[in-house]
Amino acid sequence: MRNDPMAVMNPPIIKTKTNPPGLLADPVAPRDLISIHDLSPAEVLSLFNLTSMLKQRPAEFRGLLAGKQMVMFFEKPSLRTRLTFEAGMDSLGGSTFFVDQTASRLNARESLYDIAHNLERWIDIIVLRTFSHAVVEEMATYAGVPVINALSELEHPCQALADFFTLQEHFGDLKKVHLAYVGDGNNMAHSLLLAGASVGAKVSIATPERYGLNPVIVTMAKAIAEETKASLRILNDPRKAVAGADAVYTDAWASMGHEHEAEARAAIFAPYQVNAALMQFAKPHALFMHCLPAHRGCEVTDQVIDSVNSVVFDQAENRLHIQKAILVWLLGSGVGRFPARSAHAHA
Ligand code: CP
Ligand code: NVA
Repeated sequence: MRNDPMAVMNPPIIKTKTNPPGLLADPVAPRDLISIHDLSPAEVLSLFNLTSMLKQRPAEFRGLLAGKQMVMFFEKPSLRTRLTFEAGMDSLGGSTFFVDQTASRLNARESLYDIAHNLERWIDIIVLRTFSHAVVEEMATYAGVPVINALSELEHPCQALADFFTLQEHFGDLKKVHLAYVGDGNNMAHSLLLAGASVGAKVSIATPERYGLNPVIVTMAKAIAEETKASLRILNDPRKAVAGADAVYTDAWASMGHEHEAEARAAIFAPYQVNAALMQFAKPHALFMHCLPAHRGCEVTDQVIDSVNSVVFDQAENRLHIQKAILVWLLGSGVGRFPARSAHAHA
C-alpha cells in the first residue's frame, strides 16, 4: 500500500467512524508499519494515548474489528509477537490466520508480487516476520492492504513502541528519559534509536566497533531528532552509555539467523554484559529492559533481570496493548480509506 505520489503530496486527514468515544485526536493513519519512521513523532504519542485507553478499558473496544481478518507469515520463531497479535486481534473481534513459514522463505514457492495480489483479495491486514527487511518492504509495495513488520533483520518497530510506552508509564514525560542500550547494533537497537528520536528522549547506544548500527538508520534518527530535540549518542563504551541512564536495555548478542556466530560473539560482547557492576553507572532507580527472549548469563545476569528494577514482563504485557492499538490504527476506519503516505516529508 505504498507508492501513491498524490497521496504523499496531499495526505487526507482520516476521520474514523469507528473510533471509540473519548479518543482525543483522530490519528492520521500510516498505511503500513514497516519502520518506526512510518510514524511522525506526534503519531507515536497519539498511538500511546490509544494504547492507554485499550489497556485501561479493554471492554469498550470489544468487537471494534469484528469481521476483519489478519494473516501472519513468520519465517522465524516467536512467543510474544505471535501471541500478542493473535490475542489482541481476538479481543477486538477479528480473526487471525497464522502461517508457519519457518521451513522455507516466504517467496520460495512463488513471487511476493503474486502472493500480495492473492492476499489482498481475501485478507484485511498482513503481518510478517522475515529474515530480509526487503521482503516486508516489497510486500508493502505490492499489497493493497496494510502490512506490519513483526521483526526483520533491520527493525522491530512493534517492540520498540511497546518499550517506549512502558517507559512513559514509569517516568511520564519521555523527553526527560535517558535510555541506554548496550550490545549488538541490531534490529532492536535500530528501532529503539528511531523511537527514542521520535519521542524526544535521550538515547545512548554502545556496541562493539564491528557490530555497530546501520548508518542509514542513524541518519534517519538524527533527522527526526532535529525535529524533536532528542539527544542521540552512538558509542562503543558501555559504561559511558549507561552513565546516568534512567533505563538500561540489552538484547541477544546473536539474533535469530546469527545463532551460529554465538560462540565467537560471546567473547567480543562480554564487556557489554548488563550485570550489577554495569548497572552501578546508571541512576539508582534505573530500570532494566529486554525485549526477550533473554540469554541469561550472556547479555544479562540473573541478578539484574530478576531484580525489582527489571520491567521485562511489563514490556511483554505492553506488547499486547500496543499491538491492539496498531491494529485499530491501521484497520479502525476500514481498509482502503488510509492514505498511501509516509509520515516524514523527506521519506
Ligand atoms: N520480543 C519478541 O519479539 O519476542 P518473540 O520473538 O517471542 O516474538
Ligand atoms: N534481536 C533479536 C530480537 C528478538 C525479539 C532477534 O532478532 O533475534
